[in-house]
Amino acid sequence: MKPHQIQIDEQGRLKHFISIEGLPRDLLIAILDAAQSFAGVGERAIKKLPLLRGKTIATLFFEPSTRTRTTFELAAKRLSADVLNINVQSSATRKGESLLDTLRTLEAMHCDMFVVRHPMSGAAQLIASHVAPHVRVINAGDGRHEHPTQAVLDCFTIRRVKGDLSSLVVAIVGDVLHSRVARSDIHALNILGVGELRVVGPKTLIPPGVEALGVRVFYDLEPGLRDADVVIMLRLQNERMQGTLLPSAHEYFQAYGLTAAKLAVARPDVTVMHPGPINRGVEIDTAVADGPHSVILQQVSHGIAVRMAIMSMAMGSQAAPRRTR
Ligand code: NCD
Repeated sequence: MKPHQIQIDEQGRLKHFISIEGLPRDLLIAILDAAQSFAGVGERAIKKLPLLRGKTIATLFFEPSTRTRTTFELAAKRLSADVLNINVQSSATRKGESLLDTLRTLEAMHCDMFVVRHPMSGAAQLIASHVAPHVRVINAGDGRHEHPTQAVLDCFTIRRVKGDLSSLVVAIVGDVLHSRVARSDIHALNILGVGELRVVGPKTLIPPGVEALGVRVFYDLEPGLRDADVVIMLRLQNERMQGTLLPSAHEYFQAYGLTAAKLAVARPDVTVMHPGPINRGVEIDTAVADGPHSVILQQVSHGIAVRMAIMSMAMGSQAAPRRTR
């Protein structure tokens, strides 16, 4: 079964959240709209809604993470769920059986939802196909495959800052090859009908055949950034690189690092994004990361609202998705 087949129930509602690929446009828009309604909760004196009261959510991270795990935790707590954080130290070679064993143990504790990050592509789907029927699974990043909640928060951020996506030029810059964020972003932005989608980076870090996903490829930064409305910078994922794909971090910064001078070819009101963690002086200069075009910290806040929307919809606490556009 494909990831997108497992994540939607017979009524077309979100059941698990495994991938953006194959997600119906209506459902993606319904998630964005629900996130919009949750966005104000963090600014209230009492930051809680009772939607998931009495539910137990386990975050199961087989890879290190700070912002994704903590924003999932905060989102679950703001929905009044009980949260169990489990850090599982595992090597990339631990697969299949040990993963399902951990899961059985957690199921015996009557968890209602698992938020899973795993170095193996397909791990979240594997878990979703083995859990009890009432249990929900959210993919918080599986290997190089997808990071669907990140893509939703990226689209949410772009929609909030820029409004309509249909006339926008969006450039995704850097280590596209190893990036699950890039894959999910490409699918999400295409589903939403972005004007023009580009990927920019050295040949060794651009997946061969990526044009088939509906992107324009640029191997040089300047033409890739020219007239861009939105620039999404990616971290060099050294931990996923085998062999030497790059000369050095310094040379990478010279060629592909985003500085204020290089950004000048983009639109004057360009928005700069990054999923984090950022490597200052490698893919992005401090002056840009902290500069007036950057929405990197807003992305983190939006991540909470988006994860609240996804968790409550998957748990069936939201009204059925409605068409709004
Ligand atoms: C991303 C990830 O883990 O894929 N980060 C994140 O979720 N905030 C991107 C990255 O690690 O570079």
